[in-house]
Amino acid sequence: MTSARGLVAAQSARFASLDPLLPPAVEPPMDGHVITAALADGTRVAGVISHQSFEPHSITRLWSAAEVWELLPLVGTSQGMDALLTRWRRHLDTQEIGEDTACVVHWPSRDTTAARAFLDHGLVPLSVLGVRLRTPPVRVPRTLTIRRATPHDLETVLELSLAELEYSSFVGSTIVRPEARALKRRALAERLTNASPIWLAERDGIAVALAECAIVSSEPGTSAAARLPRGRWGYVNCVSVLPGARGTGIGQQLVAYAHQELHRMGAVGTYLYYNPPNPLSSVFWPRQGYRPLWTVWEVRPATALR
Ligand SMILES: CC(C)(COP(=O)(O)OP(=O)(O)OC[C@H]1O[C@@H](n2cnc3c(N)ncnc32)[C@H](O)[C@@H]1OP(=O)(O)O)[C@@H](O)C(=O)NCCC(=O)NCCS
Repeated sequence: MTSARGLVAAQSARFASLDPLLPPAVEPPMDGHVITAALADGTRVAGVISHQSFEPHSITRLWSAAEVWELLPLVGTSQGMDALLTRWRRHLDTQEIGEDTACVVHWPSRDTTAARAFLDHGLVPLSVLGVRLRTPPVRVPRTLTIRRATPHDLETVLELSLAELEYSSFVGSTIVRPEARALKRRALAERLTNASPIWLAERDGIAVALAECAIVSSEPGTSAAARLPRGRWGYVNCVSVLPGARGTGIGQQLVAYAHQELHRMGAVGTYLYYNPPNPLSSVFWPRQGYRPLWTVWEVRPATALR
């Protein structure tokens, strides 16, 4: 336990030297499977593998494989990621693994030595958690009507949200499963009823874009605390412009408005996930002021881990 604590403290120091926006490393959960590896210089590294299965009607299945093995590495300041991934691969040999499965690791984007190890073991940088700190508002000329969505807008919000799911399924982690429409309808109906921060952009009275957001608190004990500095954050969950209207400045206008409103609600910054292989969002988000904080390394099916 002492050495696990030592590794957590050393890992926090590693994170701090890599990127000032990273929160300290957190203790891994106690209910996972522990793996360890010894390095050539005698240093020991460890990791906890957490295994999760998502029910057929779980909304998580729209962006995740049905069964996931997630590694929470404890490598301290060492270059032990490669050795740990080798141990993880051996551990998977003892498991029965189907097709709808994945291996996942969240790791600081700026840790390029670890990135080399992830690539060598067959993991791909499928998603990035990007952050943007509050900055003075950018003046974007407004040509659209932007308004808060209400429960009456459910069908419009649903169609725009499904358009994003479909586009992202070609270039990222999302999956258009047969129950996608029903799952999205249920989740969006709930968010609209709870007056979540969701906006529609309209041109000539027709909705052309959606920004579906939330306010998330990063405080000790919350899951957000493992990823973000403390404070109230705006979470940009889904931005979708109608296919025929993309590339004409609509997304930029809507996002500038959403930022302004989320900051008015007290957000110190905003964050989101985007897929580096998405040729639109990988350009769009950095242009709106986002930069990578965490990379989600993933391989599907889980047996493809090398
Ligand atoms: C990503 C998306 C929301 C951007 O909205 P948009 O209205 O198309 O984007 P805008 O016209 O406002 O363009 C803003 C910037 O994005 C980039 N961009 C827009 N279209 C682009 C294209 N076809 N290729 C590359 N970059 C593009 C440009 O850098 C542009 O800025 P600039 O004109 O100052 O250079 C929209 O294209 C979309 O809905 N895509 C499909 C779903 C999706 O990927 N959603 C995001 C998931 S995280």
